Amino acid sequence: MSNMDMKKMHFDTRAIHAGYHRDSDFGALATPIYQTSTFTFTSADHAMGVFSGQIPGYDYTRAGNPTIRVFEEKIAELEHGEDAVAASSGMGAISSTLLGLLHSGDHIVCGNTVYGCTDVVMREILPDFGITATFVDTADLAAVEAAITPNTKMIYFETPANPTLHVTDIAAVAGLKAKHPGIRVVVDNTFAPPPVQMPLTLGADVVVHSVTKYINGHGDVIGGVVVGTKDDIAAIRSRAVGKMTGTPLTPFCAYMIIRGMKTMGLRVRQHCENALALARYLESCPCVEKVYYPGLESMGADYEVAKRQMNGLYGGMISFVMKDGYNGHSAFDAAKKVMDAVEIPAIAVSLGDPDSLIQHPAAMTHVKVPKDVREQVGITDGMIRFSVGLEDVQDLIEDFRQAFAAL
Ligand SMILES: Cc1ncc(COP(=O)(O)O)c(C=O)c1O
Repeated sequence: MSNMDMKKMHFDTRAIHAGYHRDSDFGALATPIYQTSTFTFTSADHAMGVFSGQIPGYDYTRAGNPTIRVFEEKIAELEHGEDAVAASSGMGAISSTLLGLLHSGDHIVCGNTVYGCTDVVMREILPDFGITATFVDTADLAAVEAAITPNTKMIYFETPANPTLHVTDIAAVAGLKAKHPGIRVVVDNTFAPPPVQMPLTLGADVVVHSVTKYINGHGDVIGGVVVGTKDDIAAIRSRAVGKMTGTPLTPFCAYMIIRGMKTMGLRVRQHCENALALARYLESCPCVEKVYYPGLESMGADYEVAKRQMNGLYGGMISFVMKDGYNGHSAFDAAKKVMDAVEIPAIAVSLGDPDSLIQHPAAMTHVKVPKDVREQVGITDGMIRFSVGLEDVQDLIEDFRQAFAAL
């Protein structure tokens, strides 16, 4: 589809065709896997030209590879970014973004509810390199602004956040850049991948993803990606991911991800449809204290922002809190009983797979986050996080019905 203007195409067409120029050797329809560590040259001049950047080409897979490049161009197109760089994991993408764009003495304003490992990087690892973070509720614009210091270089957040599904207004935070030039807004968009939400179109500068989740979508790859301007991606690629610290994706994983992305629109829309139906059911259950899902009117201000920025789709993730004291069970015991009683979902971390996954954030994904910090943002012992899969939603509802009946 090399002659077509991708910008004029709709999401599903771009998800299938963007980034791939049909193989010129044999016409392969699927993207070939260039499973090679190094690349050969026809002459010394050719080699020197590629290494100096004067001749386009590849020299070594740590620094770039044609299969990986197809994925990078595809996701850049879907996120409306100028460029992208793939990493070996979501955490590789996040740490490379921080290493690539920040320097000793810099300060980050970070959302107070982020993935547990991101929290540890910000709280425990970056300070050793002279980079500090202040944690705030990024939905509270005044709190974000109050946390900005003269050396603040980045505002980093997830929306919806893991696991509370708390929503931050991306355009409003990006609006602060007018008053505070030199700050980049970085959004972890793992919970709301395109076509749900495109932060760069709302004023964010950089998007990071755990590709492990909805983008690959089949639970069989670990991968990450950063999308942004050509200059930012070049800095991240050269200072971190590829060339220097060396956490690139593998060509085989890139092939798997490209394959998964061809059905991304279909899959993600179905995850969202299932999640909304299940969230509404959970809300009606007397043993459930609170349901967190951005598509529910009961989410109040979060719902109002989500309506504006999530393209009428609200993602496939739900968290809910069991009612303390229901039939004599503590909320924690009830959460454990429900996790053991449901039959379709697997007890597992991760998300965005066809298979539904259920987990307990306080004891699993967020166990390393200090208890007081966890509880302050609502990650209580009675909370269950559910990645709504692509099973028939009636079967999922029936499964919860039987699990709740056993309480
Ligand atoms: C929101 C979010 N960001 C980043 C990550 C890290 O991704 P990975 O496991 O691919 O390193 C996760 C993992 O669960 C996540 O949920």
